[in-house]
Amino acid sequence: MIHLFEPAKQPGAPIFLLLHGTGGTERDLIGLVPLLHPDAGYLSVRGEVTENGMPRFFKRLAEGVFDEADLALRTERLITFLHESSETHGFSVNQLIPVGYSNGANIAANMMFENRLFEQAILLHPMVPRRGVTLPESAEVRIFIGAGSNDPICPASETEELARLFEQAGAELEVIWSHHGHQLVMPTIEAAASWLAKQ
Ligand code: MLT
Repeated sequence: MIHLFEPAKQPGAPIFLLLHGTGGTERDLIGLVPLLHPDAGYLSVRGEVTENGMPRFFKRLAEGVFDEADLALRTERLITFLHESSETHGFSVNQLIPVGYSNGANIAANMMFENRLFEQAILLHPMVPRRGVTLPESAEVRIFIGAGSNDPICPASETEELARLFEQAGAELEVIWSHHGHQLVMPTIEAAASWLAKQ
C-alpha cells in the first residue's frame, strides 16, 4: 500500500496511524502529528480505492451508503498491511493510535469493530461503519471522537450511535463537538491533544 512512515522521536511516544478522508492522500494528516504529540511518529496510508479519481479506503454505493463487502475486504487488507509494516519498521500494532478523518475514521472504526487491535483512537467526523455487529470487548480502550453538530456528511446522530456502540463494548469515550460542518478545526485537534496527554 502507498504509505509514509516516520518513527517516534522518543521511545514510548505514540505512532499515529493516519487515515485520510475521501479525496485525500497519505500526506494530508501529517501536519496534525506534532500538534497531537511533539515526539510522535506516524504510519500514514493512502486508501486503495478511487472514486472519480479520489482516493478512499473502501467503496460506497452512495454518499453515506457503504459497500459492506468491499469494506470487509479493505479492512482485512489494511490490517494485514499493519502487521507487515510492524515487522518492517519494528513496532507492535497495538502501539498504533489511529487518527482517521471521515472515510479514514470509518475504516479505523471498522477495524475496531472487528478486532481488539488498538488501545486508543482518534476518530474525526466518523460514521457507524456497519450495523448489527457484536463489538469485541473493549474495556481499557480509549476513544476520542471529534464531530460536527451540523456536519451534513457525518450527521450527529451517527456520532452518537457510534459512541454508544463503543461504550456498550466497554470503551472510554470522549466526544467533542464543533460547529463547522464537516471541517476539521483547530479546537478539535487541541482537545484531542489534551485527551491524549491525560492517559
Ligand atoms: C465515507 O466514508 O463515505 C465518509 O464518511 C464520507 C466521506 O468520506 O466523504
